Amino acid sequence: MATPQSHADQLKAQAAQAALKFVQEGQIVGVGTGSTVNFFIEALASMKHDIAGAVSSSEASTARLKAHGIEVHELNNVSDLPVYIDGADEIDAHLRMVKGGGGALTREKIIAAVAQKFVCIADSSKQVGRLGGFPVPVEVIPMARSYVARQIVQLGGDPVWRQGFVTDNGNLILDIHNFDILDPVQLEQQLNNIVGVVTNGLFAQRGANIALIASPDGIIQLGK
Ligand code: 5RP
Repeated sequence: MATPQSHADQLKAQAAQAALKFVQEGQIVGVGTGSTVNFFIEALASMKHDIAGAVSSSEASTARLKAHGIEVHELNNVSDLPVYIDGADEIDAHLRMVKGGGGALTREKIIAAVAQKFVCIADSSKQVGRLGGFPVPVEVIPMARSYVARQIVQLGGDPVWRQGFVTDNGNLILDIHNFDILDPVQLEQQLNNIVGVVTNGLFAQRGANIALIASPDGIIQLGK
C-alpha cells in the first residue's frame, strides 16, 4: 500500500484496512467512491485472488479497481452482494449518513440497496451529532434544476448548483446548505418525492449496518 501522507490519510487508510475482514472469500464486493475508498481499493488488491470481483459505484472507482487487476461486474448480473464498503461525508450515532460529496450518490445508493451489509469506513472527523452541517447533495435531471431548487427552498434548504460538474449518469448536482435536519428519513423521502430528483445524499432509510471509525485512539466499530 502507498504510504499515506497526512494524518487524515493515515486514519482513512486504517479504516480501509479494517474493512478487509468483512470481505468474504469467493464473493463479489461492493465498492464505493472517494478518498477513503481509494485506500480500500488498494487494500482489496492484496486479496484480489480470493474474491470474485467487485461492483463499483463510479467510473472513477471502476478505473481504480481495474488498474489494480480487480474484475468489475455489471450490477445487473449480480443478485447476491454480501457487503458494500463506502465512505461518508457525515455519519451520526444511528449510522445514518450524508454522502455524495464526490457526486456518486445515486450509484452508491443503488449498490447499498442491493447489499446485505453496508460497512461505512471513515475517520472520526465525519462523526456528527446531527446530519446537515455538510451540504446534502441532490442529483437532478438537468431540465429540472431550477424547479427542484425552488421546491427545496420551500423545504427550508439553500440549494447551490455544483457548477461544471456532471454525474456519471449525465445529471447535475444541487448541494443543499443550511438544512435543519430533525428527521433524516422524512427529509430523504420528501426530497425524493420532488419530480426531477434522481436521488439525494441522505442515507437514512438505508443507513450503514457497521461503521469503522478511525480515530487517533484506534478503530471504533459501531453496529454489527
Ligand atoms: C462520494 C461519497 C464519499 O463516500 C464521500 O464523499 C466521502 O468521501 P471521502 O472518503 O473522500 O471523504 O459519498 O460520492
